[in-house]
Amino acid sequence: MAQATYPLRVCLLTGGGDAPGLNAAVRAFVHVATRRDVLVCASHYGFEGLLGQEAVSPLRLEDVRGLLPRGGSILGCSTRSNPFAQLADAAATHAVTDRLRSRLNELGACALVLAGGDGTMSIAAQLDEIGIRCIGIPKTIDGDLGATDATCGLDTAVATATHAIDSLHSTAEAHQRVMIIEVMGRDAGWIALRAGIAGGADAVLIPEIPYEPARVVAKIRERAALGLRFSIVVIGEGAAAVGGAASEVEGSSLDHPARLGGAGERLARELRRTPDFNHDVRVTVLGHLQRGGSPTAFDRLLATRLGAHAAELCSMRSFGRMVILKDSRVTSVPIREAIAAPARVEPSGELAECARALGIELGG
Ligand code: F6P
Repeated sequence: MAQATYPLRVCLLTGGGDAPGLNAAVRAFVHVATRRDVLVCASHYGFEGLLGQEAVSPLRLEDVRGLLPRGGSILGCSTRSNPFAQLADAAATHAVTDRLRSRLNELGACALVLAGGDGTMSIAAQLDEIGIRCIGIPKTIDGDLGATDATCGLDTAVATATHAIDSLHSTAEAHQRVMIIEVMGRDAGWIALRAGIAGGADAVLIPEIPYEPARVVAKIRERAALGLRFSIVVIGEGAAAVGGAASEVEGSSLDHPARLGGAGERLARELRRTPDFNHDVRVTVLGHLQRGGSPTAFDRLLATRLGAHAAELCSMRSFGRMVILKDSRVTSVPIREAIAAPARVEPSGELAECARALGIELGG
């Protein structure tokens, strides 16, 4: 019986933090790649597999069964495996790129496929420039990759945050409290604003619009004057008052951006020290719940379409590109272009104006 021939082999990894939909992207990539005679191997825990500390293993159809509803990443993720971090000089950079190149050669892989956010795509762009061929698949709950209309994970994070706001409403009303809910998103307010609108928040504070605490107080008092002594305030973790900076729990280091946290508690203190502010305030930090759990149907479908297209690009040997969703169609752009401008909420854009029209206080 004639043996099938596989002229192409690529190495797949999931970089940075996990996001719901990653497994669906891995599954789709392997399905399409296999049907196009492209062999796939996987680097586990981001670059750690390739750089030697963790395994690299083949990825076959039988390895990706039952993955659509699964959160996390079967390949493992690492936010501390940037191969270019903490390198003392150009010689060290060369040593790492040589190591990556020879590992890929050993594996017979002609390209690296990276599912990741802005950090991973910057690494991909750097690798591509030095001749290590790459394909990018955008995933991040922050939704901050400019070239694509959607990233895997954002929709699920927004759904999780919206459910949390729904739950807070009933207890806020029962106890007549001001409930502050802090959500993720780093420098982008997509999760906060989308979930805030979907959940019917009274105020939404996002990194793109520095806020005046007095405006939040005024909103709470306006509601109280109507007999509504409870309010819901959604705050993005990167939001800050006018003239202030994002609240950090851990500063940035060479291999890790600053860890954000504390924006909700800081706002609570700002409210409590307002003269004659006699509302009970509680803070909920939603945290990593937003990254966990089963992806929504939207994220499964998006991840599947992006993963499938990435495999098609590999089979056509069209490297150096990131797959994107643009105007409801899946296509691709050069990776450099993909990281050129981050996606931020436009302070006077349609979504923000819609919130204002609904009476949601945006703080500035
Ligand atoms: O970038 C995705 C993200 O979930 C951010 O929204 C958040 O600030 C960060 O990652 C949390 O990172 P870690 O998992 O390292 O705490």
